Amino acid sequence: MEIIQDPKQLQSTMLRLKQAGKTIGFVPTMGNLHQGHLSLIDIAKTKADIVVASIFVNPMQFGPNEDFGNYPRTMDDDLSKLEAKGTDFVFTPTIDQVYPLGKDIHTSVEANRLTEKLCGASRPGHFRGVTTVVNILFNIVQPNVAIFGKKDYQQLQVIKTMVNDLMMPIEIIGGDIVREDNGLAMSSRNGYLTKRELEEASYLRKIILNTAEKLHQRSPIEPLKENAVKLLSDAGFKVDYFEIVRQSDLESASSSDNHLLIAAAAWLGQPRLIDNLEVNLT
Ligand code: PAJ
Repeated sequence: MEIIQDPKQLQSTMLRLKQAGKTIGFVPTMGNLHQGHLSLIDIAKTKADIVVASIFVNPMQFGPNEDFGNYPRTMDDDLSKLEAKGTDFVFTPTIDQVYPLGKDIHTSVEANRLTEKLCGASRPGHFRGVTTVVNILFNIVQPNVAIFGKKDYQQLQVIKTMVNDLMMPIEIIGGDIVREDNGLAMSSRNGYLTKRELEEASYLRKIILNTAEKLHQRSPIEPLKENAVKLLSDAGFKVDYFEIVRQSDLESASSSDNHLLIAAAAWLGQPRLIDNLEVNLT
């Protein structure tokens, strides 16, 4: 496994590999890797000759009161995990290398659809930070295919929108959510939970599963959402949103829609947890 910090060096290495006929699969991350991230490496290996991962905690996607400073940084451990998985290259740039003039005056890229609802509503500017850094990373790595987790379902859809609108020749693939034994979606931020909160956190998944069951029974949507918010609040969660939307455009679903997404975000103690489930009605 080769670790490259310099963007130009990685860019020329990738260009050489592509000219030699190799296809490139890319998994961008912010590090503190767990099985969720590593499952995306497995997918990349089935889709491309060369697998590249990046580790970069992107300051542009964090709000002023968010956890950029505290975000867990575990580079050595991450590199061992990536090596064990058979990753070919890891890109580990510094902030100055990605934003030489500072993130505030750097050229940015913004998807004009899907970014204002759900997580975008409570995290203004977040998706602009994501699409900008992913664009920079894509231009350096020049992947044929890039893999993103469905854990961040809105992020996956926003990236697909950007790639489509800007006609980027990159296939975007979504990887399934990897979970702890109790059903909690794996997340680098789960490390902020106490042991007791870790157990309590699985309730979010339970409520989503119960809601899915009711959707299959064609229960009306609005009361289902209200009930879920109430149950989560009673259990000590501070709910940011609990929505039932269409998978395609993340707009509120109606009773005539069949391809639904239950998406939720809620604080439990310090961290804000997110989770979702695709529900396909027949
Ligand atoms: P990060 O949170 O490190 O996640 C990197 C990738 O891993 C994302 O595509 C995310 O959806 C996926 N992932 C995280 N937890 C997962 C789980 N439990 N199961 C499956 N996939 C999971 O998302 C980011 O970083 C950043 O926004 C990034 C795209 C790197 C841009 O900075």
